[in-house]
Amino acid sequence: MATLLYSATMSLDGYIAGPGGDMGWLTPHLGPNPFVEQFIPRFGALIVGNRTFGGDDPHKGTDKAGKAFGGGWEGPQFVVTHHPRPDGDGITFVPDVPTAIREAKAAAGNAHINILGADIARQCLRLGELDEVLAIIAPVLLGAGTRLFEHPGGADVRLEQLHVSHTPKAINIWMRIIK
Ligand SMILES: NC(=O)c1ccc[n+]([C@@H]2O[C@H](COP(=O)([O-])OP(=O)(O)OC[C@H]3O[C@@H](n4cnc5c(N)ncnc54)[C@H](OP(=O)(O)O)[C@@H]3O)[C@@H](O)[C@H]2O)c1
Repeated sequence: MATLLYSATMSLDGYIAGPGGDMGWLTPHLGPNPFVEQFIPRFGALIVGNRTFGGDDPHKGTDKAGKAFGGGWEGPQFVVTHHPRPDGDGITFVPDVPTAIREAKAAAGNAHINILGADIARQCLRLGELDEVLAIIAPVLLGAGTRLFEHPGGADVRLEQLHVSHTPKAINIWMRIIK
């Protein structure tokens, strides 16, 4: 059975994108991260929100731009969107989150499915399908933007620690959702 993991690099104050979806803030914080690098090959599929898919890229202006994890991973991607387009290049456009989860599970086997995008991750959590969260904290405060997790009226989602490590540029916190 696949494990659904929501992963993102966030600022210390909990933002995964700056105002207007800016991702340029992340560029100076990219660098070797052995824990994350050994994790990436475990991904059997990605579920991607359409804002992430069409959004800003911290690798823009380099040959890593437009590629999943800067070209560090290849495999099936399921993009959730109200505006489906023809599939291609391993990318399948799906009309809702349950379809994305079903198709990603079929593609991933027992591997991890990585979720990219806060909106999609929140919906996976609401469906009871989110298993784990990997937050990579970069040493920066952004003050505004897209939060790692937001829930109108608040929430009380309990987590347990699986792993904590750090590099000179980041702190990795991997947690399991207690169901
Ligand atoms: N720091 C990091 O590591 C990291 C990682 C990933 C993403 N990001 C950033 O986070 C931001 C994106 O996160 P987000 O939460 O704003 O958006 P998101 O989850 O990437 O995408 C949301 C979009 O997906 C589509 N969608 C959502 N739910 C749907 C549903 N039930 N049915 C059909 N389509 C649905 C809608 O797009 P349409 O209506 O247009 O189809 C919606 O606007 C971007 O700025 C991205 O660059 C950062």
